Amino acid sequence: MTLQVWVNDSKVGTLDRHGSGTTFVYDQGVQPSNAISLNMPVRTASYDHPYGLLPVFDTNMPEGLLLDNLRRELSKAYGHADAYDILSETGKNQIGRVRVLKAGEEPQRKPSIRSIQEVLEAEATEAFVTDMFRKYGLRSGVSGAMPKVLLEEEVDSFFDPEKQRITIETQDYILKFDAADYPGLSLNEYHCLKVARLAGNKTAECYLGKHGRTLAVQRFDNLDGHRSGFEDLASLNAMTSEEKYSGTIEKALFATIKNFSAENAKQNLNELYRQIVTSIALRNGDAHLKNYAVLFDDAEKGPFTLAPAYDIVTTKAYIASDMMAATYGGSKRWPKPKAVEQMAIRAMLTSQQAKAIISEVGAAVKEAMPAMIEDFKRFEMLEVGLRVAACWNEGVTESLGMDPIDFDYMTDERSS
Ligand SMILES: Nc1ncnc2c1ncn2[C@@H]1O[C@H](COP(=O)(O)OP(=O)(O)O)[C@@H](O)[C@H]1O
Ligand SMILES: [Mg+2]
Repeated sequence: MTLQVWVNDSKVGTLDRHGSGTTFVYDQGVQPSNAISLNMPVRTASYDHPYGLLPVFDTNMPEGLLLDNLRRELSKAYGHADAYDILSETGKNQIGRVRVLKAGEEPQRKPSIRSIQEVLEAEATEAFVTDMFRKYGLRSGVSGAMPKVLLEEEVDSFFDPEKQRITIETQDYILKFDAADYPGLSLNEYHCLKVARLAGNKTAECYLGKHGRTLAVQRFDNLDGHRSGFEDLASLNAMTSEEKYSGTIEKALFATIKNFSAENAKQNLNELYRQIVTSIALRNGDAHLKNYAVLFDDAEKGPFTLAPAYDIVTTKAYIASDMMAATYGGSKRWPKPKAVEQMAIRAMLTSQQAKAIISEVGAAVKEAMPAMIEDFKRFEMLEVGLRVAACWNEGVTESLGMDPIDFDYMTDERSS
């Protein structure tokens, strides 16, 4: 089955199976600004991949539980379900501006809900999560292991005299649910993103569910009513999601960002350094190539901006021996303060600038810690909160060279 590839409202090419791989070819007359990947400029010759999907089409492939569910559902219906089959379902509604449709399908509106608030107030019971998956899962082209769906909320409707019709304003979210194996994951991410913001990173806007077990992350891949180009660092390195842990911070992150940033290089490298230091301080061992990305409108001329920080979690609170997702200086071990400071050279920053960023990150962790612990206590997961706090403390002392943060509960525990 041939698939049609669109960029926003324009059809730009076709995708087909090719042996055990895939082949993509642009239509005639496609604007260079509408390239589907920064690695795939518009040209006459096809783009071929010997096995599986071309990296750009692998970007939003679901993983984990969501992938298992989809596989089961599609195999039941069609008798087979490989990555190409899955793309033919999830490609209609995915992150970024590229859409993949079956022949004859038009780009269509995504499933929408009246209010994200209602979803956030619901208790994320197994039945509720299953129901959300049944309704929205099959049509959610979003990667990652945490159970999640894409939702569109109707914010307001009003009569637009210019267009002579009723316009509905919408807001897009990625809705994430706690996974059984990782208690407090939503709360953990919520507070990590809070630290990231306090530390001066641009971050995705996010809202915690009333029961602390759901997280709604507002999508940043929208641009005045249409989608902006979104390409993660796996795709920019021409790697698929299976290779997301195989990059180096030096090459796959800094050098690649520099390479694809045109005149925004300095700004993007600066922001990337801040994001990396934040993840090190928070002991986020999942800062792999799919958790950094570039946003753009015009694929040829840019501007290319580093996407806001997303998916920051203190993973070490669950996996005591967790290390970094990408190597630095040939090792995945958490770096010492000197190495963190020296890393700044890759970002074209002076050592003074690096010191300022490091101390801003450290100060943010310190400021955010009490409220984080309180929140875990409120949702009856204090024990997890204390583990997160211990990780943050390890991060700021061992990697940022700061004094330890003395948090109340640590003192309480010592005295009891
Ligand atoms: N705020 C956002 N706006 C747009 N896309 C996002 C946003 N946050 C995450 N994504 C995309 O969704 C994918 C999955 O989200 P992520 O938060 O990384 O989930 P997981 O914890 O399962 O890895 C990311 O790899 C990225 O492609
Ligand atoms: Mg992720």
